[in-house]
Amino acid sequence: MLIKMSEDMTENDITAESVYKQRRLFLQAGSALALLGSGLLSAAERPGVGRPLQGYQKTPWGKAETLTPYRDITSYNNFYEFSTDKEEPALLAKNLKTSPWDIVVEGEVERPGKYHLEDLVPMNKLEERIYRLRCVEAWSMVIPWIGIPLATVIKRLQPTSKAKYVEFTTLFDPKQMPNQNNRLLDWPYVEGLRMDEAMHPLTILAVGLYGEVMPNQNGAPVRLVVPWKYGFKNIKSIARIRFTEQQPVSAWMKASSREYGFYANVNPQVSHPRWSQAKERRIGEFRKRETLMFNGYGEQVAGLYTGMDLKRFF
Ligand code: MTE
Repeated sequence: MLIKMSEDMTENDITAESVYKQRRLFLQAGSALALLGSGLLSAAERPGVGRPLQGYQKTPWGKAETLTPYRDITSYNNFYEFSTDKEEPALLAKNLKTSPWDIVVEGEVERPGKYHLEDLVPMNKLEERIYRLRCVEAWSMVIPWIGIPLATVIKRLQPTSKAKYVEFTTLFDPKQMPNQNNRLLDWPYVEGLRMDEAMHPLTILAVGLYGEVMPNQNGAPVRLVVPWKYGFKNIKSIARIRFTEQQPVSAWMKASSREYGFYANVNPQVSHPRWSQAKERRIGEFRKRETLMFNGYGEQVAGLYTGMDLKRFF
């Protein structure tokens, strides 16, 4: 994320639209055939790569969107514990041990302790939510996540009246996550939400995508998905959840508080100090799109920030 992005492509760089559309149709037909050939394509969804998740509910979220291909979602990743390169996490995270997986719950909460993932995230209550992910680096994807509302988990843990924020921490294990041996960030990766953001019905803990268990490079076995915030809030491979009275300091705020704020709401009007946030490139498309306030989820979440100066609280 600290790497400068290239500027807008010029018209000359853009393939004529008809040529591009033909090429895309051809590519789409090719990958659909390959999936059909594998015999594993159920309802044109499961890529047949990971273990299928059963019996999750479909929800209306994002039904009208064109999904980003599974291959792009799982081969173009930000997972700095493994690499700052986009393609390498898919290879380097392959052997991350994600089962058994425990999550420590602590701080301002009535039911602290060490929980098995399955005890914290009831696998019989999973839902599919198709959400946009807008990275702060100005690319975006549309991903069919499988998970449960974070609110469901929080209610069971019973935060005390002092709990104003929730802090999440990624696993710290430099043997498995080799980049934790360098000083890129002050590891482990930490992120946080205000309690009302954490309890918002759009916020989920995701354990899968495209109908299958979460690929390691996407944050297995469990990650946060907050669709109206920049991608970096969506912390992967969560090993600790702490309820706090004070606002948590995230790993990116520690690295550069001028560039990365606590709220990190998608906001086309507030530029990153080194680049504009007004546009984005959907992975798989050439032409840039206008970035939408709150990533297009304003109707649901704008009320959380009434009266706040979003230039100051970026
Ligand atoms: N979580 C951890 N632990 N480490 C990371 O490097 N990268 C973040 C976020 N969560 C990151 C992380 C960033 S910058 C983005 S854009 C998203 O994960 C990318 O998620 P994806 O690879 O599933 O698309």
